Amino acid sequence: MRLQKYLAHAGVASRRAAEELIVRGQVRVNGKVVRELGTSVEERDNVAVDGKIVRLPTKHTYIVLHKPLGVVTTMRDPEGRRTVGDLLPKGLPRIVPVGRLDYDTSGVLLLTNDGELAHVLTHPRFGVEKTYRAVVKGKLSAGELDRLRRGMHVETFRASGAQVKVVASPPDRTVLDITIHEGRNRQVRRMLEAVGHPVRELRRLRFGPIALGALAPGRTRPATARELVRLRELVR
Ligand code: URA
Repeated sequence: MRLQKYLAHAGVASRRAAEELIVRGQVRVNGKVVRELGTSVEERDNVAVDGKIVRLPTKHTYIVLHKPLGVVTTMRDPEGRRTVGDLLPKGLPRIVPVGRLDYDTSGVLLLTNDGELAHVLTHPRFGVEKTYRAVVKGKLSAGELDRLRRGMHVETFRASGAQVKVVASPPDRTVLDITIHEGRNRQVRRMLEAVGHPVRELRRLRFGPIALGALAPGRTRPATARELVRLRELVR
């Protein structure tokens, strides 16, 4: 495969932008800078951009789901409730959710059979950023926003500081985007409850580099090569 095609497949850049990387001398094949467009590479070659190894996507499956409300984040539910497994297209290999969204939370959820990546992505050490759009009861004072931003004790744990942005203030409500990099059970709900503003609606807008975008509730799409490259970068 031609080098620029390899780079595009690996999600590094578009084919045109990949050509520029090559011409600028940012790409090495088996340790040697290659500036010729059209150089042939094989899967076993070691390709690096700016010193970082670049791999073609593996045979694993990575699916992004817009989990709707009222669905459990498991593949099967002994109580017979609707599960995320019920929403997947037929014929996929066996995949499992990376982390969990509450029954009453909607939003972006990654599912994969890449156990290694799933494990690291949910490991607290890597602290993948997650952004939630929350509709809460009442108006948050400057002091309450400050508590969320500085980090706070919530029942049994200490939540580290969150990024918080107020996006709207309808009557008796506040709509805010809150970004955390931990993933304790019902963490966002518990943090907002602790500052006196119970959550009325919660939707995850972003999981690391994967944005919900315009994906409709209950729909899926494959993760893009670029999203996978970024996810792997996060946990290197
Ligand atoms: N925080 C919550 O409170 N609920 C979720 O589903 C995810 C994060």
